[in-house]
Amino acid sequence: MIFRKLSSIFLFVLPFLASLPSVAQEQDTVTEEKRRGKELSLYAEDNDQNCLRCHGKLVFSITDTLSGLTRKELMAEHNFISPDAFYNSVHWSFSCLDCHSEGFKEFPHTIETRFETGWGCLDCHGYDPTYAQYRFEEIDAEYQRSIHYTATDGAFTCWQCHDAHYYRPLARESGSQRDNISKSNEMCLHCHGNPDIMGLVTEKELTMVLPRHEWLPDPDRHLAAVRCIDCHTRMTDSVLVAHEVMAADSAVNTCVDCHSQNSILMGTLYKYASKESRDQEGFINGVIFSNDSYVIGANRSKFISLTGIIVVSLVLIFAGAHTIFRIIIRPVKKYYEQ
Ligand code: HEC
Ligand code: HEC
Ligand code: HEC
Ligand code: HEC
Ligand code: HEC
Ligand code: HEC
Ligand code: HEC
Repeated sequence: MIFRKLSSIFLFVLPFLASLPSVAQEQDTVTEEKRRGKELSLYAEDNDQNCLRCHGKLVFSITDTLSGLTRKELMAEHNFISPDAFYNSVHWSFSCLDCHSEGFKEFPHTIETRFETGWGCLDCHGYDPTYAQYRFEEIDAEYQRSIHYTATDGAFTCWQCHDAHYYRPLARESGSQRDNISKSNEMCLHCHGNPDIMGLVTEKELTMVLPRHEWLPDPDRHLAAVRCIDCHTRMTDSVLVAHEVMAADSAVNTCVDCHSQNSILMGTLYKYASKESRDQEGFINGVIFSNDSYVIGANRSKFISLTGIIVVSLVLIFAGAHTIFRIIIRPVKKYYEQ
């Protein structure tokens, strides 16, 4: 009897205790950002002089050294490199010439530059313990099993999805989840929504992908709330972002895969958030009570949680006081009753 009472009180107390630290910690979950920026780059001046004086602008000028004449031209948008975004990317400290050949110093660029063999991610990051946390080798193995690698005869590389100049690991960053989702999905729609770009890697006619997702209620809302890769890759435990994009007939196609307490999203989209809060706050505390994704779609409001905590604690204080009074008063009563 007492045990049952205790355990039911315990069940009330548990979420209360668990929520307290997570409310307090919300302010400092922003992870410390590595310092980057043009001011810190050793190559800022070289880059400006050699390349960004043209590629960093939408209008650039060229001069004919013989006549001294100058004229302005437009930089095609796909050849424009935003200096801000470049110096904010993980490769901010690079010289353009670290990845591009010296031939590009000449203008017009010579035909050889068209055939330069670029570095792949693995050339620099593979088997390097500094980057072990990203598991590049496993990502590469997964990627080589993906439909993109197998169906395109080597036309596809990591760069097709990861912008060479602006790359940042989104899932690890402290920015908004929505922002992360939309940037991830842009990587896919950049191609799957654009026949011209698709033409760079395949001869096949592009089929429009959005109509194929009308089985989802409110598809726009869903595609803003989950990443394409959450449904289209084979889930794994070893890497943070799964890279084995499968054929469409193997994609997630049932509602309960996501709309359930053991939602697949805990192992995909919310993997980092749940791992971080687990490290910081312990499993029960971090995953079960403070993760916003506890039941997907049933969004938890911070305000409602806080109100809930206050209500629960008032009830507990009242119940506690009541129990203590009962305990103090009861023996006296019993004595009289006998
Ligand atoms: C005087 C202006 C100018 C300068 C300086 C310049 N470029 Fe270019 N670059 C262009 C223009 C215009 C194009 C588009 C025409 C073309 O592809 O040749 C281009 C094209 C490119 C391309 C695309 C080639 C392709 O295969 O499609 C790359 C890569 C490139 N530049 C890299 C560089 C790098 C790296 C530097 C610095 C070392 C540099 N450029 C300096 C004007 C410039
Ligand atoms: C980390 C390596 C790396 C660095 C640093 C780098 N590039 Fe690139 N760049 C690439 C790769 C790889 C491609 C080819 C992308 C592809 O195949 O889609 C590329 C392509 C380009 C293009 C063609 C347009 C495009 O985006 O595909 C231009 C122009 C260019 N780079 C200019 C620059 C300039 C200017 C800098 C210096 C500010 C620079 N790059 C620094 C790797 C790099
Ligand atoms: C030419 C060599 C080179 C290539 C190619 C290259 N990287 Fe890097 N990368 C580096 C270096 C060097 C750094 C460290 C830069 C710094 O902070 O000064 C870095 C940093 C990073 C970081 C941040 C690591 C950390 O924990 O701070 C990530 C993530 C990353 N690269 C991913 C990629 C991906 C993905 C690709 C391919 C799409 C790629 N890199 C291609 C050399 C390269
Ligand atoms: C079909 C598109 C696609 C291709 C191809 C691709 N990636 Fe990714 N990759 C993604 C998406 C989407 C993400 C998630 C966005 C994010 O978190 O940065 C991601 C994330 C990553 C991350 C961050 C993982 C982490 O732990 O934070 C790394 C590193 C990475 N990719 C490396 C690679 C390498 C190496 C290759 C080539 C062998 C590659 N990617 C090819 C789409 C792709
Ligand atoms: C550079 C262009 C490009 C990008 C970027 C790209 N894809 Fe693809 N995708 C392709 C091509 C090409 C195929 C193979 C088409 C074929 O031959 O069947 C393909 C095939 C697929 C298929 C299989 C379709 C089927 O019919 O079974 C899926 C699913 C898919 N991509 C999802 C994605 C996702 C998710 C992303 C982003 C993480 C992405 N793609 C990024 C070009 C791209
Ligand atoms: C909720 C899970 C889910 C999400 C999110 C999702 N897909 Fe799909 N996707 C599917 C399913 C299931 C199919 C197969 C539909 C069918 O057979 O008609 C499919 C089909 C496809 C196809 C094949 C189209 C064709 O004509 O053969 C491509 C390519 C694709 N999706 C790309 C994407 C891209 C790009 C995104 C992100 C913008 C995305 N998907 C988001 C589940 C999803
Ligand atoms: C890949 C995971 C995934 C799949 C599969 C999925 N959903 Fe969702 N769904 C979500 C997420 C995440 C949200 C939250 C959207 C938001 O917050 O805007 C959501 C939101 C919803 C909502 C709105 C809930 C609200 O709070 O208003 C409904 C209704 C819904 N989904 C129904 C379905 C149905 C029915 C299916 C199957 C046909 C389905 N979903 C498949 C992830 C998924």
